[in-house]
Order: sequence, then C-alpha cells, then structure tokens
Amino acid sequence: MDIQQVMVVGAGQMGAGIAQVCATYGYNVTLHDIEEEHVEKGLKSIRKQLERQVNKKQISQSDMDRFLQRIHLSTKIRNSESQDIIIEAAVENIEIKKSIFADLDKFAPDHAILATNTSSLSITEIAAETKRPEKVIGMHFMNPVRVMKLVEIIRGLATSDETFRVVKKMAESLNKSTVEVNDFPGFVSNRILMPMINEAIYTVFEGVATVEDIDEVMKLGMNHPMGPLTLADFIGLDTCLYIMETLQEGIGDDKYRPCPLLRKYVKAGWLGKKTGRGFYNYSN
Ligand code: CAA
Repeated sequence: MDIQQVMVVGAGQMGAGIAQVCATYGYNVTLHDIEEEHVEKGLKSIRKQLERQVNKKQISQSDMDRFLQRIHLSTKIRNSESQDIIIEAAVENIEIKKSIFADLDKFAPDHAILATNTSSLSITEIAAETKRPEKVIGMHFMNPVRVMKLVEIIRGLATSDETFRVVKKMAESLNKSTVEVNDFPGFVSNRILMPMINEAIYTVFEGVATVEDIDEVMKLGMNHPMGPLTLADFIGLDTCLYIMETLQEGIGDDKYRPCPLLRKYVKAGWLGKKTGRGFYNYSN
C-alpha cells in the first residue's frame, strides 16, 4: 500500500511534531483534535518550529509555505474517512485511546492502518476495540519528534507482517531509524528510561544529592544530553507517573513502584516545563 494521506489525532506536543515531520517529507496531513483551539495551538507550534528552521537557514521560506499548505485542520473524527493511515497521539490514557480507536474503526476506510504513538500502553488491548486488529500497530516517536531519529514500532498480538512493513517503510521515508518491538508494558524505550528517571527522583526524595547535582552526574559522568530530572520535566511528570504505573501494574513487580515524590508533584500540578514548575522552576 502506498501511503499519501495521514491523519494525526491529538495536536499536543507529540501530535504537532509528528504532523510537522510528515508534512516536511511530502505527506498530506490532517491534524485533528477535539477542540478548534487545540488544533490552532498545534499549528502555531509547527509554524514556530518551521520559522526557527528558516531563521537558521535550514529551510527556505518557500519550503515552509509548502509544508504548511500540506497541513489541514480537523475537529471531526469523520475526516478519517479519506486517510491511508491515522496516527493517534492523544493523551496517555487507555480508556480515551480505546474510545478513539473504536471511532476511527467506524469511519476510516478498510485499507487504513490505525497506529498509536502510545509510550507504554498495550497495542493488543487498543486493537481489540477494532474489527481490524491486524491493521493496528504502535508507532512510537520520541520527543522532540523532528530531532530524534528513532521510531519504535510495536507489533500487537494480531498485527500483520504487511502492516509492519508499510509502517516501517513510512517511518524510514520520514528519515527515521526503526526498531521492531513486541507488545509489552513500556516496550523497550520506557521499560529502560522510566525506571532510571524514577530512580533519580528517589535519589532526590532520599536526600542523596540536589536536583542539579543528580543531573550533572548523568550529563557529565554518563554523557547524557539532559539530566534525568530535566528530561522528566521535559516529558511531563504526569506522563512519567502514568508510565511507571503502567509498568508496575502490567509487569506486576513492585520494583517499578513510582516514587512518592513524583506522585506529590503531580498532585500539586507541578507537571514540569508545560506548567512552569517541576523539578526546576520555569516561571522566568
Ligand atoms: N522542540 C523541538 N526541537 C528542539 C527542542 C524542542 N523542545 N529543543 C531543541 N530542539 C532542536 C533545536 O532546534 C536543534 O535543531 P537543529 O539541530 O536542527 O538546529 C536541535 O534540537 C538541537 O538543539 P540545541 O543545539 O539547541 O540543544 P541541545 O544540543 O541541547 O539538544 C535536545 C536539545 C535534542 C532536546 C537534547 O537535549 C536531547 O537529545 N535531549 C534528550 C531528549 C530525549 O531523551 N528525548 C526522548 C524523551 S522520551 C520520549 O520521547 C518517549 C516517551 O515515551 C516519554
């Protein structure tokens, strides 16, 4: 199957990034969210990113105009009826994702692939909401989408070889490298990344070192581009907590228990960069 029409469901940080990359590499993109305000905000962030690239002379103004012309906005899930692939990047909540997939299954054409950008939830469970589980797959982009080279492709229990092949080819056409992963909580990326972040939070919780010094150890000592606490703020502490809960519940091992300090910050609404406060203060 030749993919031309791509719908991205969810116009937040990840959805906007995926839409931008797809438009850059020649796909016609429909960026969808439930509220007009959300899609407008997503488009605004894409425009800002592209302007930055124009200012750095990485792309020309006419490239930017061409990329933006390929992006259409949608608030009606029925618009999935003209798509070849739908990539869902909505909030990381299994009930919400299941409901989106049930709707997509009603409207999307029979040939369409339904992909999810979930960072830890079960592809198999999401696929079971549809009558086409063989066409449901995980397509996990990393943040920031334009910069990070990896797409983790996750096969649900029923995902067909053909669906896997088409999605791999599409990810490669976006200049990404892919890895093939089987459906298991957290896949590979978050099975390894999140316990490290959670351990860094325990290290703050137990007063072993300051937030800045913990980050410094991992940056200067291990050559990580960002310290784990900066990275947690960047990902969103609510997302980090949700992924740890998914690991703990899904694998059934308390070694994945979320740090109480992470819970406390989420309860306080300190969700990281997006709310101006997390392990660091972004109010300035
Ligand atoms: N959004 C979009 N692009 C960004 C960005 C952002 N927030 N921050 C930086 N960039 C871009 C810059 O525009 C620049 O692009 P060009 O090379 O094309 O000019 C590039 O990233 C490098 O930026 P800088 O030189 O300013 O900064 P840097 O060298 O410090 O790199 C970084 C920034 C790429 C974000 C780097 O710090 C990094 O790699 N951090 C780790 C990111 C990471 O681990 N991501 C995975 C998160 S986990 C995930 O996504 C999965 C999940 O399920 C939770």
